[in-house]
Amino acid sequence: MKSLWKEIEENIVSNKKELNEDLSADVCIIGGGITGITTAYYLSKAGMKVTLLERDSLADKTTGNSTAKITSQHGLFYKYLLDDFGKDFAKKYYLANQEAINRIAEIVKSENIDCDFEWQDAYVFTADSKELSKIKDEVEAVKSFGGEADFVEKIEPSLSNVKGAIKFPNQAKFNPRKYVKGLVKQIENCGSEIYENSKVISVENKNDEYIVSTDKASVKAKYVVVATNYPIINAPGFYFIKMYQEMSYGIAAEVDHNLFEGMYINVENPRISLRTAKYNDKNFLIVVGMDHRVGAKIDLENAYDELENVAKSLYKDAKVLYRWNTEDCITLDKIPYIGDFSKIMKNIYVATGYKEWGMTTSNVAAKIISDKILGKSNEYKEIFTSTRIHPIKNRWEFGEMIKETTNSLIINKFKIPEDKLKDIGLDEGGIIELDGNKVGVYKDMAGNIFSVKPICTHLGCELSWNNLDKTWDCPCHGSRFDYMGKWLYDPAIEDLEVLE
Ligand SMILES: Cc1cc2nc3c(=O)[nH]c(=O)nc-3n(C[C@H](O)[C@H](O)[C@H](O)COP(=O)(O)OP(=O)(O)OC[C@H]3O[C@@H](n4cnc5c(N)ncnc54)[C@H](O)[C@@H]3O)c2cc1C
Ligand code: FES
Repeated sequence: MKSLWKEIEENIVSNKKELNEDLSADVCIIGGGITGITTAYYLSKAGMKVTLLERDSLADKTTGNSTAKITSQHGLFYKYLLDDFGKDFAKKYYLANQEAINRIAEIVKSENIDCDFEWQDAYVFTADSKELSKIKDEVEAVKSFGGEADFVEKIEPSLSNVKGAIKFPNQAKFNPRKYVKGLVKQIENCGSEIYENSKVISVENKNDEYIVSTDKASVKAKYVVVATNYPIINAPGFYFIKMYQEMSYGIAAEVDHNLFEGMYINVENPRISLRTAKYNDKNFLIVVGMDHRVGAKIDLENAYDELENVAKSLYKDAKVLYRWNTEDCITLDKIPYIGDFSKIMKNIYVATGYKEWGMTTSNVAAKIISDKILGKSNEYKEIFTSTRIHPIKNRWEFGEMIKETTNSLIINKFKIPEDKLKDIGLDEGGIIELDGNKVGVYKDMAGNIFSVKPICTHLGCELSWNNLDKTWDCPCHGSRFDYMGKWLYDPAIEDLEVLE
């Protein structure tokens, strides 16, 4: 299971360095995805000494599994912003992301980064005539503050029944791992340092400085940036009650044809996102979607098959060579949290909640946070304020989050699991009860049994078995673990307890 980007660009850095000795830096960045690396790039270029700590490998998590469209078109979003936050807010959100596209293009050019960057138009389309009015309203919303958008009746990919689409011209796409590799080279040229396999386990504040520690050593720094996608610090900040995580699936299929121009995503559910890429002179169609909340008990058996059906409906000869899945954070009001981590902690910053549009948003975040650290003004910082306390307009989402959390924390604790070891088939998993204790069990194809304590190491919710990916998923805030209990996704930091 591997994304096309990981196949193309296997190693971001050639010699992996682990943090083994105590260091000092101006800024310590936690997390080596596109957010952490772009922030390190801006700060290093401005002359700051940065130390970046990555728990595994650079750009291996959400960044390395992204569809990597670089666009200010974040689904149908501007009508919502206009109605709920006003015209000035909607315009600023649009401009912040448009400017990010241009800054990325500028970096690619000025640093000579070979990352398959290409200008492309972006479209949101519908095959449901009932959704057509939403697309037309979105076009009007974008035009109302001077943004560029058009309604089109047809799109290039020959999907059946398309009724219309909104087009954003001059957006872009790239290979996110090749881009990040180019940034890393510049960061190291500036004298900043990057460490992989260096999991941060604590952040302490001492005498106006932070001590950021792994289990082997620590970094002392005046400023800290938490760029771990899901913030790893629970309190203060309490991001875990303000966000949830959504998981999506992706495939890349080789096709013996010239492929369409442009990048596409639909309005209705299940969501399907399309773009193309080239690798070794071959054309690849990328299909991503089938989003669902992590840990939700839904029928997952056929997510990859559904994506393959879409690929085959477009190109009969589509041959699926890569499959992957990944997740991203979504805030309750759908606006990312970027800026101060908490009102009571100085000089520590966060960037999260990109709702699967982090290619531009990571650049917006890196700019806002580096401007803050460098003492510069930034005209977009207010709209993303991470310590905001708005009335929660999206009551449905909030209600669902509370329900999931409560179900998992309380109800499941008293529920007797129905599964018995013999009920669990080969290559399946589930929770059974043994001597009054719950045990998470996976049986591989050979009948070997792997048992874990099925309790999330973040805040103790009961995990759900995901039979498609053979993972333990947390319905509360979206942590994931493999069948042997090894951590896969934040906010949990520790692996699961393995049971004999
Ligand atoms: C299926 C899918 C498709 C997407 N497609 C698009 C798209 O087309 N366009 C777009 O704009 N966006 C897209 N996105 C969103 C985008 O990919 C993400 O928002 C973005 O990659 C997030 O980057 P990040 O650096 O914040 O997080 P990540 O890439 O997840 O990086 C966080 C890093 O922090 C590290 N970390 C975690 N805990 C610790 C710790 N304790 N110590 C040290 N390091 C730690 C992790 O290992 C990881 O490397 C998509 C997302 C998904 C899920
Ligand atoms: S992710 Fe928070 S309890 Fe599991």
